[in-house]
Amino acid sequence: MQISPFKIERYFARYEFNVDYVLCGSDCESMAIEDLLAFEPDAADRFHRLWLGYTESQGSPTLRGEICNMYRAIKPQQVLVHTGAEEAIFNFMHAMLKAGDHVIVHWPCYQSLVEVARSIGCEVTLWKANEENGWALDPDELQQMIKPNTRVVVVNTPHNPTGYLMPGDTFKEISRVARSNGIILFSDEVYRESEYRVEDRLPAACDFGEHTVSLGVMSKTYGLPGLRIGWIATQNEDVYKRMAVIKDYTTICNSAPAEYLAELALRHRAALVERTQKIILENLNVLDQFFDRYAGRFVWQRPTAGAIGFPKLLGEDIEVLCGSLVKTAGVLLLPGSVYDYPGNHFRIGFGRKNLPEAIGRLEDFLQRL
Ligand SMILES: Cc1ncc(COP(=O)(O)O)c(C=O)c1O
Repeated sequence: MQISPFKIERYFARYEFNVDYVLCGSDCESMAIEDLLAFEPDAADRFHRLWLGYTESQGSPTLRGEICNMYRAIKPQQVLVHTGAEEAIFNFMHAMLKAGDHVIVHWPCYQSLVEVARSIGCEVTLWKANEENGWALDPDELQQMIKPNTRVVVVNTPHNPTGYLMPGDTFKEISRVARSNGIILFSDEVYRESEYRVEDRLPAACDFGEHTVSLGVMSKTYGLPGLRIGWIATQNEDVYKRMAVIKDYTTICNSAPAEYLAELALRHRAALVERTQKIILENLNVLDQFFDRYAGRFVWQRPTAGAIGFPKLLGEDIEVLCGSLVKTAGVLLLPGSVYDYPGNHFRIGFGRKNLPEAIGRLEDFLQRL
């Protein structure tokens, strides 16, 4: 397999663990195992007695049962647990696509959503988010992009990197277009349940019918990326079976401790969501004030969900600024060039508690320029 390096991951590999502040993380504030175990009085005892044999390849039935609670029409046998959302993306693409197939991908995007299909030899059309229209996607464009060999449409909402949350009508229209053209809608929903207004939450794509696949993960809204537990939920038996075949060649089954902790976390997901919401909303307040003070230097399109946004820097080169910021102030921002997106944007992350300090450092840096 020939695949291009994952630019975001390579960038993070260089800096993530040797800077003072990661101000561009896409995850939300995490916690220690002991904090998670404290949710239930006997959780620590059960964890200590956990058997470390191989686990069920689909994911433990009780974990899958918990995951089902996020959806309306999904049963445990329609959930396939993976090692992070990343493995699920890789396996879905390998299960469902072959060289010459056409794939339409919401763009800019998390690189694996486009790169894995390219590495298989697929023809990829980028479905561009409209920056002038708050990063919206136009469903009329989707219809025009469809070809006889289109197999999959990939969307991601709430969106990495813009924080765009699609209106419900648009989401339903995309699903309708996919269904009527015999195309699978792969919906990356890793930021679901991080909407700032709960009434804006979209239905999960997997509840729309057999033509859809929803992607979920513990990493973002629930703040537990170190568990490496993700999943797909789908009513499509063919997709499910094919992905299970691929999984036997990638990870076979998941880590038993990670499954145990993920299940525990999901039993208390309302509390985790509330915790994350509080951090995000307080941080957004800090960011709004920051961008107000620096209105001449940045363009800030306030996200409507999730823990990342994609502001634009005015008047100087974003790669130069990010390079000098990390070197002299120990603060990491992610230049938009790692998404191959032009226009001098950068990703900012506001899911972590230390954002106010990081913004303080950024401000000192800007004032010294
Ligand atoms: C949109 C999107 N999808 C999938 C993933 C992969 O998630 P994980 O790293 O938990 O496997 C990420 C991670 O940043 C993401 O932002």
